[in-house]
Amino acid sequence: MIEIGGSGRLWVLSGQRSSYALHLTDRDELLHLHWGPRIAVEDAEALAAEPGPPDWPFESPLDGREEYPVEGGPRFARPALSVHAGGVRGTEWRFDGGTVLDPGTGEELRLRFHDPLHHLGITLHYRMRDDGDVVERWTTLAHTGTAGQEPVELLRADSAAWSLPARDRWRLSHLHGRWAAESRLARTELTPGEKVIGSRRGHTSHHHLPWIALDGGEATEESGEVHSCALAWSGAWRIAVQLLGDGAVQAVGGVGHDDAGQLLLAPGESFTTPVFAGLWTDGGFGAASRAWHAWQLAHVVPGADRSRPVLYNSWEATEFEVSEERQRSLARLAADMGVELFVVDDGWFGARTSDRAGLGDWTPNPDRFPHGLKPLADEVHALGMQFGVWVEPEMVNPDSDLYRAHPDWVQHHPGRARTEFRNQLVLNLARPDVRAHLWERLDTLLSGAPIDYVKWDFNRSFADPGWPGDRYPRRLWIDHVRGLYELLERLRAAHPGVAFESCSGGGGRIDLGVLGLTDQVWTSDNTDPLDRLAIQHGFGQLHPARVMAAWVTDSPNVMGNARVSSLRFRFVSAMAGVLGVGGDLTRWSEAELAEARDWVALYKRVRPVVQHGELYRLRPPEGDGLSAVQYVRGAETVVLAWLQAQHHGRAQPPLRLRGLDPAATYRDLETGEVHRGAVLAHRGLRTGLSGDLDAAVFHLRRN
Ligand code: DGJ
Repeated sequence: MIEIGGSGRLWVLSGQRSSYALHLTDRDELLHLHWGPRIAVEDAEALAAEPGPPDWPFESPLDGREEYPVEGGPRFARPALSVHAGGVRGTEWRFDGGTVLDPGTGEELRLRFHDPLHHLGITLHYRMRDDGDVVERWTTLAHTGTAGQEPVELLRADSAAWSLPARDRWRLSHLHGRWAAESRLARTELTPGEKVIGSRRGHTSHHHLPWIALDGGEATEESGEVHSCALAWSGAWRIAVQLLGDGAVQAVGGVGHDDAGQLLLAPGESFTTPVFAGLWTDGGFGAASRAWHAWQLAHVVPGADRSRPVLYNSWEATEFEVSEERQRSLARLAADMGVELFVVDDGWFGARTSDRAGLGDWTPNPDRFPHGLKPLADEVHALGMQFGVWVEPEMVNPDSDLYRAHPDWVQHHPGRARTEFRNQLVLNLARPDVRAHLWERLDTLLSGAPIDYVKWDFNRSFADPGWPGDRYPRRLWIDHVRGLYELLERLRAAHPGVAFESCSGGGGRIDLGVLGLTDQVWTSDNTDPLDRLAIQHGFGQLHPARVMAAWVTDSPNVMGNARVSSLRFRFVSAMAGVLGVGGDLTRWSEAELAEARDWVALYKRVRPVVQHGELYRLRPPEGDGLSAVQYVRGAETVVLAWLQAQHHGRAQPPLRLRGLDPAATYRDLETGEVHRGAVLAHRGLRTGLSGDLDAAVFHLRRN
């Protein structure tokens, strides 16, 4: 709902439990008023009538108060917009008008400004849907001049700036990591100055997810005010959070890692930034996560009301030793276990018998698949499973037919070395000819065999982002990502039955942008079930279990730390998301295969609650103790609990469950045991976990 007050210069957006308010002064300054509990227009008008800060020569009257701070004028905090044209830097805007539209995706507020000197139109977009509390913000920048006028260089064009009120204290939560250790939660005091997170790598990166949360230091899982923001972009990005001298906070975020130039807009051209979404709650970090999850499932992830199937992926079993016969053996074992989707990973195409060759040549390797992929796909289908393949379309090995034919199609600087990681170079998807080629190859692949699923990988970062011959090569940072989105959109439209997974050496490309075009993501190459608990704990701060792929692999773990763990622990860890299996099933004993079959069957019973329910983090995976999550959906609840190590014979504390009816009784659907809701909520559920790396699943239904 959007309400207008203040003689048409004040706007209040309200969702289920919160409001966001802003107003325009008579000097056309767009000031933030409120982001918190629901308020009336009259409250916002009272806020707008309050006197501004005192006039001090060394203090800006605008810093920390503006909706979209531009470079120039009486401002010293980091600007959201920095432009340059004809030797003049900075922006001075005039208000052109505001409009409320309802394009069927929820009411949207558009506030239009223009800078007459630069012929730059600036439109700020706001959308808050009635079914939640996420404020979606983005900005459109357009060169409104006529042919022959100076182009405008966007040095920096953030999506939005978020203003948080002055408080005694602010604490920042964010997600950080590296390859095989993604999305781990860090929570630290915000001290005066700036904290900048982002990616200088051309993809979202394993190192930070584009999400922050701010609280006053007192929020818990279940209570307290939390403001959080997340950016919907899959390339290089930056979020800068600044604690200002008066205790207020400004957070700006958008595409690109620096201010050195992003796009050159000629007359008639425009750039629409990605969405930078924000959410306020007073229900603590848990409520914030649940609100983010609900919004993504309702408005971001395609077809999120459908459950994701149990997947088998052959990567850890075979690596590059791919053969049709071995894939068939794995497929039979997977089908017998109850797997619903069988995915052939890297190594099926071109000369791809190692990571040294073949990337770019997307036709089945004739020695490995002499009749193409169709015979294997047909057998997989006959076994009752869907069939999927791995691709890495944005990359090329120098040892490939594609690179030999088009060495100029990769990102490179003339006269400089072409940096290789994993023996591969990055194709320049900003080029229309590269996109046209990839479209043709992938469309042919998806048309030539009955493929239901594509795992889209991306295994190195940008290093030489040059584009010889282009008038403004820096645009490839943005246009590569726009090219990726265009390809995914086109493929989805042409092959609506195909689901897509976003992978980037594990979790190097997980964000709200790619999630708008994919069905699930590969969370991490680290499949160690204990390490995964911390990764999943961070991941779930923002993203729902419904998109979080997790595999059960071999023990000792082959990808990371060689940790030995039981099938029970591995399955219960992976059941917290979209369950997959990735071990070498040909080496599993009959007893292991039978046990796995039971776990897969159990997962299918709890899947609707895990994938579509509300997540409560009961205990974080810290230290060597007990951790647990709970999902609630209607009358059903599922608890997954893990014990890292028991010490001194200490019994584990009961888990106090959330979201239950204290007056009801709950039956454990596996054991038949009946619990009282009030007892589960107050005394808690006894898990009976003991020893090292123990785990359990509880599936309860309200009577
Ligand atoms: C990185 C992915 O994260 C793995 O799962 C696997 O697909 C390899 N790439 C294959 O090269």
